Amino acid sequence: MLRLIVIGSAAGGGFPQWNSNDPASRRARGGDPAAPARTQSSIAVSADDRQWILFNASPDLRQQINSTSALLPRNGKRDSPICSVVLTNGDVDHVAGLLTLREAHPFSIYATSRVLSVLQSNSIFNVLNADLVEKRDLQLGVDSEIKTRGNEPTGLVIEAFPVPGKVALYLENASAGANFGTQAGDTIGLKIMSRDGAAHFFYVPGCAGMTDDLARRLKGAPLVLFDGTLWRDDEMVVAGVGQKTGKRMGHISVSGPEGSMAAFESLAVKRKVFVHMNNTNPILLADSPERAVIGRAGWEAAHDGMEISL
Ligand code: MLT
Ligand code: MN
Repeated sequence: MLRLIVIGSAAGGGFPQWNSNDPASRRARGGDPAAPARTQSSIAVSADDRQWILFNASPDLRQQINSTSALLPRNGKRDSPICSVVLTNGDVDHVAGLLTLREAHPFSIYATSRVLSVLQSNSIFNVLNADLVEKRDLQLGVDSEIKTRGNEPTGLVIEAFPVPGKVALYLENASAGANFGTQAGDTIGLKIMSRDGAAHFFYVPGCAGMTDDLARRLKGAPLVLFDGTLWRDDEMVVAGVGQKTGKRMGHISVSGPEGSMAAFESLAVKRKVFVHMNNTNPILLADSPERAVIGRAGWEAAHDGMEISL
């Protein structure tokens, strides 16, 4: 059995974003039920309902824990069911929450050597006491069992694989050419499995495009949580809120012939859920025509607190 909770369904900035005065953000601030607020990108998964593994640690983590009963302390004076954190890239929205976990609680961190080196080279992460928090190098293309800091099994096994993407914004090297110095391991997708093999799903919150390898992996999957950052590639430019396209940011768009809806059409995935949705994406709004379009294509837009059991 696997139980997963989407604790944050929005992309970097969240919804409403702090400085956004767009109609959608105004609706969210006004408590419009069709525009529910969403925190930044993270899911929590458990194979035993006892030990919980975070996949990405967002800047909103404190709020996410406090509003998720499964993640609250249970025993004694200091306690947490959170025993591990797995990172899919080094973006601010996926790593800043590690700083929230700094109160002398033992846990393990799994990430590729590329992402671990980001933590290593930013001394603020030294606030995680190395005696209590162990960083583990996640290998690509092999099954890795997630273990607690004390090496207890959690019943969860993951396989990490590279997906098209881009190095984190704050690490971009402008002189390194069109890919800004991006290397393999900067952005990964994950197959998340119960150790007994009874259940699995895929978590791919950041992805710049569909490849043959990714299509082969996802084909026929029972559940995929996938990058829903933008509805269309030039959405932020057209809205007048930024210069960057989705392609420039390393995100495939939802719509269009090169978009994720089209790319998934032939993959026969049983349940498809968009996560990591930007505040400009109209699928955030329950009453938008774009939400109806994804619904007709068999997709759901995740919301904070969404729970799925497999
Ligand atoms: C992204 O997903 O592209 C990043 O999280 C953007 C950012 O750093 O705000
Ligand atoms: Mn992001």
